[in-house]
Amino acid sequence: MSIRYIKDKKRFIINTQHTTYAFDVAYDHYLYHTYYGKKTSKIPDPHFHTISFAPYLAGQHPRSSPDSFPLEVSFYGSGDFRPNSLRLSADGTGVCDFVYQSYRIFKGRVALDSLPAARADGDTQTLEITLLDEVSGCRLKLYYTVFADLDVISRYMILENGGKDSVTIEKCMPLTLDLCRSDFDMVSFYGTYNQELRLQRHPLHHGTQSVYSNRGASSHQYNPFLALCDHKANEERGEVYGFNFVYSGSFLDEVDVDQLNRTRVQVGLGSECFSYTLGAGETFSSPEAIMTYSASGFGKMTRNLHRFVRDHIMPASALAPHPVVLNTWEACYFNIDEEKLVAFAKEAKAVGFDMLVMDDGWFGARNNDRAGLGDWFENRAKFPAGLASFVNRIKAEGVKFGIWIEPEMVNPDSDLYRHHPDWALRVRGREPLLSRNQLVLDMSNPEVLDYLMKQFEETFGDLPIDYFKWDMNRHLSNVGSCYLASNKQGEIFFRYMQGVYRLLEWFAIRFPNAVIETCSGGGGRYDLGMMQYGIQIWTSDNTNPCDRTRIQASALVAYPAATMSCHVSNPRDNLASLDYRYKVAVGGMLGYELNILNMGDEIKSIMSEQIREYKSFEHAIRLGDYYSLASPEKYDYSAYYYAKEDEILLTVIEKKDCQKGSTKRLKIKAANPDAVYTDLRTGKTYSGHLLKEGIVIDLTGEADSAHLLYLKAKA
Ligand code: GLA
Repeated sequence: MSIRYIKDKKRFIINTQHTTYAFDVAYDHYLYHTYYGKKTSKIPDPHFHTISFAPYLAGQHPRSSPDSFPLEVSFYGSGDFRPNSLRLSADGTGVCDFVYQSYRIFKGRVALDSLPAARADGDTQTLEITLLDEVSGCRLKLYYTVFADLDVISRYMILENGGKDSVTIEKCMPLTLDLCRSDFDMVSFYGTYNQELRLQRHPLHHGTQSVYSNRGASSHQYNPFLALCDHKANEERGEVYGFNFVYSGSFLDEVDVDQLNRTRVQVGLGSECFSYTLGAGETFSSPEAIMTYSASGFGKMTRNLHRFVRDHIMPASALAPHPVVLNTWEACYFNIDEEKLVAFAKEAKAVGFDMLVMDDGWFGARNNDRAGLGDWFENRAKFPAGLASFVNRIKAEGVKFGIWIEPEMVNPDSDLYRHHPDWALRVRGREPLLSRNQLVLDMSNPEVLDYLMKQFEETFGDLPIDYFKWDMNRHLSNVGSCYLASNKQGEIFFRYMQGVYRLLEWFAIRFPNAVIETCSGGGGRYDLGMMQYGIQIWTSDNTNPCDRTRIQASALVAYPAATMSCHVSNPRDNLASLDYRYKVAVGGMLGYELNILNMGDEIKSIMSEQIREYKSFEHAIRLGDYYSLASPEKYDYSAYYYAKEDEILLTVIEKKDCQKGSTKRLKIKAANPDAVYTDLRTGKTYSGHLLKEGIVIDLTGEADSAHLLYLKAKA
């Protein structure tokens, strides 16, 4: 059993393969956190002490103050002054205090209402803790779902209003973890459109430091992934705690160092873009947050997270080979039509692509980004015989067919908006703001969802579509809903996401033979929520290979290569550039985004060879263990490898400013020392022992220079 309750100590212990997590019931009231770290049987007892100015219950000893405890959950206004997990108002004060009642340990997990959630398997166990706030009559259930072999524990909460009056949740942080030290570095992502996932690392300071989104999307600007590590932690050494959120909307990751040098980490919905009113008898499920711990550096944390995402987050279809696509966006932008794309499909087949993806521009009056969004029926000027006839012509060329959609959005210049202006998010009396000439549909309104389902059914229902590229090209402002009552307006951000997830779920059920690639202007929703529905995410609109090298290396810190859609874009007849772009793109799931009709025969035959080669080692990228050797954030080159059973795929990408003639010794720790490896690209052999000691790579220092070795051990 990975979860145990020690009755005489009133202690809960969760053991995973390499970690232990423990907390006690203190004073028959609070949940006192005692340990999270390397697996141990020696769990420290709670240390009660008095601190000044810390409030406690009348009749109790001052050292019983929640302000002095490391806690599992913390309530606003009831004695703990640090950032709280829950603020719940029945009376306008926000004050609540939930007292421990009971626990339950069971196999599997509970589902979350219209939210993505990590899939349980036969070994998954869950601990449920029930607490009661007598004054409001609300019951709070805290969940710890344990994925023991991956060292991952997930945390979520369900609130049941058992009182007579409605209550409003004003802050909700399903993961609170108090660690009794503050000598950590915090690692997180920041960025912007086209430059997503920049890694930042800094020592913690007293007070609160956070990453967040108030945008209704997890965003390009920050990402819900967060890590805390020893100051000296590196890929292989040091303690690292990793956190993430299975959610794609506004979020808050906050880290606070308090007066006693303790660190509180919280992951959740925050309060700025969240409130939720629960009527008597109603229930609210929070999204799920996850945590993992590694005693041996970032590499182990990364591999824990990668396996967890592949095995428990991504759809089963993501575990099969992903199609190598030819996408029309950078080749044609809005300038597409039937004859051009049939010609694309013919060439795509000849080169060896699996699929043609028709990007933006096929529907309504969509000839530029100023019109048409929301009108999900074909543009007859571009497809005179209709979509069905067009799709059949594409398939007749022998390739699969994918299509771009952006269901959550509407252009004011569209039939949909002209008929239903009240279906866009807006605040009464205020002019809604535009972004990329578009408005956001009110996905909290069931009528909007019904309409979208009906329209997509009508347009795609009978078509053999193999793939949807699901985009989202602006953030939410003027967040008001004509559908929700005025006391429910604070729920829009959350209900919006539930609506999006319902529609994604509908697509999965309605089009079981199609897969989804998600996208939000590139990597604006690169999160575990989206990863539950799509086989991959368009990592960035930036396809410049130097920038991509950095973006992909960052993404791999927290997310597996199987999630990363990577395209070779226009090499402009430059063969070295084509080779370089390919070697960058095979860091993830390969595709191309170029005008194949303009490509010469030599380029096309090299692309054919690239696709053939990629398919020979794609399984190692999609399912292998990832090892980072040199991060492009730090060095003038990037080096990493994927290891899967007897195969190793080693990539070294030289950056523009790379020093000529410098020699790198790269230690391939995952190599088997007793085997002999052959590089299937060159025929050269290496002993596993040598690979472990370090293979020498000479950097050329020339433009567009990259090294790729596909090593296979002899049986
Ligand atoms: C976003 C996507 C691109 C492309 C365009 C189409 O920017 O990230 O890949 O699909 O939209 O408008």
